[in-house]
Amino acid sequence: MSVIRKLQKKDWDVFVDILANAYPGFGVITDQDKEKMKRRLLQAEKYPYINCYGLFRSKKLLGGMRLFDFVMNVYSHKIMTGGLGLVAVDLIHKKEKVCKEMVEFFIDHYRTRGYSLTALYPFRPDFYKKMGFGYGTTMQQYIFQPGNLPRGDSKEHVRFLTGRDLPALKACFRRFCQTTHGMIYNCDYMLDRIFVDPAVKCVGYLQKKHLCGFVVFSFKRDPQQNWLKNDLIIHNLVWERPDAFLELMTFLHTQLDQVHRIRYGGQLEHLHWVLHDPRSTECNLMHPLGHETNTQGVGIMYKVINVKKLFTEIGGHSFGDENCTVRIDIQDTFTPQQAQSVTVRFSHGYAKIIHKGRYDFQMSLDIAEFSSLILGAVPFKSLHNYGLINISPPSFVSTAENLFFFHDKPVCTAQF
Ligand SMILES: CC(C)(COP(=O)(O)OP(=O)(O)OC[C@H]1O[C@@H](n2cnc3c(N)ncnc32)[C@H](O)[C@@H]1OP(=O)(O)O)[C@@H](O)C(=O)NCCC(=O)NCCS
Repeated sequence: MSVIRKLQKKDWDVFVDILANAYPGFGVITDQDKEKMKRRLLQAEKYPYINCYGLFRSKKLLGGMRLFDFVMNVYSHKIMTGGLGLVAVDLIHKKEKVCKEMVEFFIDHYRTRGYSLTALYPFRPDFYKKMGFGYGTTMQQYIFQPGNLPRGDSKEHVRFLTGRDLPALKACFRRFCQTTHGMIYNCDYMLDRIFVDPAVKCVGYLQKKHLCGFVVFSFKRDPQQNWLKNDLIIHNLVWERPDAFLELMTFLHTQLDQVHRIRYGGQLEHLHWVLHDPRSTECNLMHPLGHETNTQGVGIMYKVINVKKLFTEIGGHSFGDENCTVRIDIQDTFTPQQAQSVTVRFSHGYAKIIHKGRYDFQMSLDIAEFSSLILGAVPFKSLHNYGLINISPPSFVSTAENLFFFHDKPVCTAQF
C-alpha cells in the first residue's frame, strides 16, 4: 500500500538523496551540493503554487515529484493546468510502479480540483506517451554566428536590466502571456531568479521607459579551453513588437567579435528567416539537398484530464467556421475511467458539448493525440494521414481539417 502526501521537513534530506541519484547530471555529489539543492527546493516551495509530494511504502520515501498549479493561456482563455516536474524514484525501487502511482495521483489530484489540463517535460517521450501525454510544439535549437543576425540602424533603446526592472519585466512577460497561446502565466519562480544568478544577463528594449522586450542570456566558455572563444546562450527571448525584436537582434549581432556562436533553444520555428545565412554552424547537409538550419526535439507534453470541461472552458474560441456535430471517441489506457465518447456541436466553430442527439461524423483517437490536436500542436491532417485518427464517414475529413487547424501552435517558455 502506498501513501502519497506533501513532503514535510523531515522528508527533505531523503528526497534530495533520491534526486541526486536520479539526476546524476545535476552534479549533486557532496553534502554542500545537497544542502544547496535543498535550499533551492525549499525556496521554490515559497510560491504557493509549487509543492513537492512523495510516495511512501511502509513509511519509507521511495519517490517524489513537484506539482505546479499553473494557469495557461489556451486560445486567450485562462485554463488551470497541473504541471509535473522533478519526478524521481529511489534507484533500489525502480520498476516497482512508484512512478506510475505518482502520475496517477498527479492526474487525480488535479482532476478533483477542477483542472482540465496537465503538462510535463518528459525524460523520455515514449514513457509518458504511454501514459496518455501528447507532444506539444517541438523545441528548435539554432546555433549560428552573431553576424548572421540582422543589424539595424539603431540599438538606442536597448540597455542592461537590473533587479530594479523586475516589476517591468514581469509586466512585459504578463502581456506576452496574454497574447500568446500556450504561455504559462505564473512563472515568477523563474523570473525572480534572473537577477539572482550573476552569470545570467538580461538586456531589455525600452520605449519611453516602457519595457517591450528582453533577452536573458549567459556566456559559455569553449570546452577546448580557448578562453577567448565564448558562446552566448539565449535562455529567454520575449518581445511585444517587431522594433523591439530588431533592436535586440542588433544588440546580439554587435557581439560578433566576442561571441563565437549564439545558441537558441525554444519554440521559434521560423528563426532562420531572420538569419543572413540560415545554415547552422554545424554545416550538415541532408539528403537529397537540405542545409541544416536547426535541430528539432520533442519537449513539453500535454494531457487533457477532463475533455468536457476543457471544451466548456474554451467555449469562446472558434475552431474554424464549421457547423457540424461530431462524436469523439477517446481511448485512455492509463486512466481507463476517463476513456469516453463526447459529442460536440460546433456552431460557426464554437464548441458546445451535447448529451444526446444525432451527429454528422465520428472520429476516434488516443488521448495523447487528442491532447496535441485540441491544443493546436499538430494539425488534424497530419494525424489523419499517419493513420492516428479514424474518421467515419471519410467524406467529413475536410470538415475536420478545418475544425482542427490552428495558425498558432502553443508556445511555452516555462521550465519546470
Ligand atoms: C523514470 C522513472 C521516474 C521511472 O520510475 P519507475 O518507478 O521505475 O517506473 P514505473 O515502475 O512506475 O514504470 C511505469 C509503469 O507504468 C506502466 N504504464 C505506463 N503506461 C501505462 C498504461 N497506459 N497502462 C498500464 N500501464 C502503464 C508501464 O508499463 C510501467 O510498468 P512496467 O515496468 O511494468 O512496464 C525513474 O526511472 C527515475 O527516477 N528516473 C530518473 C529520473 C528521471 O528521469 N525522472 C523523470 C523526469 S520527467
